[in-house]
Amino acid sequence: MIPTLTAGSLLLRPFTMGDAPIVQLLVGDKRVSRYLLHVPYPYPDGAAETWIATHHKQFVENAGVTFAICTAVDGILRGAIGLELEPTQYRATMGYWIGFENWGRGIASVASKAVIGFGFDTLGLNRIMAEHLAANPASGRVMVKAGMQYEGRLRQHVFKDERFEDALTYAIVRQDCRPVNIPL
Ligand SMILES: CC(C)(COP(=O)(O)OP(=O)(O)OC[C@H]1O[C@@H](n2cnc3c(N)ncnc32)[C@H](O)[C@@H]1OP(=O)(O)O)[C@@H](O)C(=O)NCCC(=O)NCCS
Repeated sequence: MIPTLTAGSLLLRPFTMGDAPIVQLLVGDKRVSRYLLHVPYPYPDGAAETWIATHHKQFVENAGVTFAICTAVDGILRGAIGLELEPTQYRATMGYWIGFENWGRGIASVASKAVIGFGFDTLGLNRIMAEHLAANPASGRVMVKAGMQYEGRLRQHVFKDERFEDALTYAIVRQDCRPVNIPL
């Protein structure tokens, strides 16, 4: 079972099919999908249900984990965050989106910190990576606030909306946030 995490004023919980209409509304917004590699615009009917249906299998097969980001006070769905796992390498790639109306409230930064903690403490990962389009500096700021370090610019790495775009890559490794355990 995908767990539920608390992070400040947020609740990170598994998606349910009942979330699909809100997902379609939030991620169907071009201002959000513009920066997402695997989300088409316009966002077709049924795509949210199809996506949510993958989450359980993804988790039990150790391929990844996806959380709905909700504000705890009212339970309202604000966005999504997840890790794609490469278990044999003890590493994962993090991705996230927040509905446009809730940008700039610190939601992605708080959720990222919680998911990074979950990745290290519960999943036993050693390295968590993330990348963003050069045109999306707010996402780079989220990565830095979550403790990730900038590792480089991948030139024309992404083909999106009929053009090539640079991506900026960040990562955090376990020893960045934990004392290194040196045997005496
Ligand atoms: C990127 C995104 C997830 C940020 O979510 P958010 O909840 O608004 O993020 P936060 O509020 O935690 O932090 C945003 C930070 O970016 C900063 N920021 C906003 N616009 C910026 C810009 N144009 N340039 C630089 N920094 C910017 C904010 O000031 C804030 O930093 P601060 O707290 O130091 O002031 C959200 O904008 C989003 O969903 N975008 C569309 C999808 C997407 O880009 N997903 C990530 C793909 S890599």
